[in-house]
Amino acid sequence: MTSPARRIPIPEFAPQPRTQFATDVLAGLTDRRKTLPAKLFYDAKGAALFEEICAQPEYYLTRAELEILEANVAEIAALAGPHCALIEYGSGAGIKIRLLLDALEALAAYVPIDIAGEQLGVVTDELRADYPQVNILPLQADYTAALTLPALPAGARRVAFFPGSTIGNFHPMEAAAFLRRVRRTIGPDGALILGVDRIKDVTTLEAAYNDAAGVTRAFNFNLLDRINHELSADFDVTGFQHRAIFDLDDRRIEMHLVSTEPQVAHVAEVPIVFDEGESIWTESSYKYDQERLEQLATAAGFAVERLWTDSEDRFWVVFLAAA
Ligand code: TRP
Repeated sequence: MTSPARRIPIPEFAPQPRTQFATDVLAGLTDRRKTLPAKLFYDAKGAALFEEICAQPEYYLTRAELEILEANVAEIAALAGPHCALIEYGSGAGIKIRLLLDALEALAAYVPIDIAGEQLGVVTDELRADYPQVNILPLQADYTAALTLPALPAGARRVAFFPGSTIGNFHPMEAAAFLRRVRRTIGPDGALILGVDRIKDVTTLEAAYNDAAGVTRAFNFNLLDRINHELSADFDVTGFQHRAIFDLDDRRIEMHLVSTEPQVAHVAEVPIVFDEGESIWTESSYKYDQERLEQLATAAGFAVERLWTDSEDRFWVVFLAAA
């Protein structure tokens, strides 16, 4: 018998295996163009800093998306229909999902997926307390790799939720490949509720990733701290600068850690050599216009059923049905 409030077995929240972290870090830093994948940001400290980013006055994305969800949640619930299995990619602090948990009728299950295991455990407990009637099946996983979902109630329509413009953190080809995998996961009658940041003026975009309080800078630097601690590396953080700039040609914010001097760091005894001005590319955040968003959805096997924006035209929430 599965009672919704059943305790989670501990292995569900085992920390990300260190070897995988080491492998990812070394692969990125030994590349000719040094990069680190964005998922590595989210250790416990990184997850907490990200929540702080979302509250910064310059970071309009979260507020704009919440405004759209709040204004249109009844219509979203009607499009989704009753008895859905909701699957959230990157559940984070578990705030946006509450709007859907409140509005969707007779939910069959809710599967929050996140790489940040500690936060996932805490948020799952909170949601189980506040939504005792919902069958919550958390999954700690890197959803950029292959996923095995928990068993879902038969016959439930699978509705994926991928908010926060995290789709923008994939390069366009990878974004299409990722959405195709989501499409396969939800099946031929599934749906996807997707949050996407819109292309807009450079000042607004760059300010969102250069908040005056320096939280995004701290978030970026936390990655170096994490590498230093977890991999006994010796990055001198004072020799790096946070840089986030909008690239108009590629329609993306690029976030970097720029080496301000020639230096050598060691990661698991592997020397990583930096020229002055050389950077580690830690994040991209692609911004979409409607045409490109529709192209992306179509390429992944979805049809746009409905597209909403906020009162200032900054962000999109799209309801995509499996085509
Ligand atoms: N999906 C968010 C975005 O593209 C993620 C994000 C916001 C982020 N700020 C960040 C990721 C800073 C890394 C660093 O806006």
